Amino acid sequence: MQEIKERLERDLANAKSAADVEQIRVHYLGRKGCITTLAKGTDFSRFSPEEKKQFGIRLNQLKNFAAEAIQKASQQAGAAAPNKKAPALDLTAPGAGRRLGALHPITLTQMELEDIFQGMGFSVLAGPEVESEYFCFEALNIPHDHPARDMQDTFWLKNNLILRTHTSANQVRTLLRFGAPIRAVFPGRCFRYEAVDPSHENTFYQCEGLVVDENISVANLIAVMKTLLSEVFRRDVKVRLRPGFFPFVEPGFELDLNCLLCGGKGCSTCGDGWIELIPCGLVHPEVLRHGGIDPTRYSGFAFGIGLTRLAMMKYGIRDIRSLNAGDLRFNKQFAVL
Ligand code: PHE
Repeated sequence: MQEIKERLERDLANAKSAADVEQIRVHYLGRKGCITTLAKGTDFSRFSPEEKKQFGIRLNQLKNFAAEAIQKASQQAGAAAPNKKAPALDLTAPGAGRRLGALHPITLTQMELEDIFQGMGFSVLAGPEVESEYFCFEALNIPHDHPARDMQDTFWLKNNLILRTHTSANQVRTLLRFGAPIRAVFPGRCFRYEAVDPSHENTFYQCEGLVVDENISVANLIAVMKTLLSEVFRRDVKVRLRPGFFPFVEPGFELDLNCLLCGGKGCSTCGDGWIELIPCGLVHPEVLRHGGIDPTRYSGFAFGIGLTRLAMMKYGIRDIRSLNAGDLRFNKQFAVL
């Protein structure tokens, strides 16, 4: 054993590379290594019990010593010569491509909606994100102390203006400016003072629609919604219409979309299989009056598409928070190229 130990030390001292050390390891401690097989080649019949015990203890000491010494040597060999080979220069390798930016899924969805509505003769208009209480609430038949105010938690600015809670704030602005007949959509960012979770954000997008003309009815509303959704999803989607209350429409509806993420079974995004997607209804006469339009001559419909929710459905985004997080790994997935 003493002899083996000395030989091992000599061998390790002469080793020049990690490969040399590995060879030494195999020679001494490998399955057929001289230390590993030492006990097998020994005739124990000549040993007294005490000698046998001593032999075992010494053999273990030798094994441990060898294992440690070899490990140390291999670490040293590795550290001394890391990656000796210089990386080859491959002149035929393709160059690092230019990185192209990508449009945000909200932008993509908005552009698509604008396209679809323009195809149906709608104008695309915009209004301010910082809004007056009047256009956001009063003009929409939501008086100051009306409980309907509680439906939308609002960010108030110090100058008494607010961050608009919905794109409906554009309705009366537009009527005052352009009068009737009018057919327009208003995509844009809205804000609510809300607790954030996978389906609620304090900052989100809607796309408002407003049509005012003579003889407008619910039938026109439904036709436009159907055209819209079949164009957006390019397939049959299930929707349901149920009564919904908004002070600025009468009658008012909720158009729900059967969740495209879970197929309507229910998931963390939709809850019960239905996504509230498009609240809508016929424009309330009071709103027309605020807009200077004669409700005995004109009627209209309005809808507020949840643009953010629509983008989530369309692109299979399960958590609304990804949209505003600014994580390039998320945004990059929507690169057109
Ligand atoms: N503005 C409403 C909201 O944000 C939605 C809505 C728009 C309802 C138009 C009816 C008509 O909740």
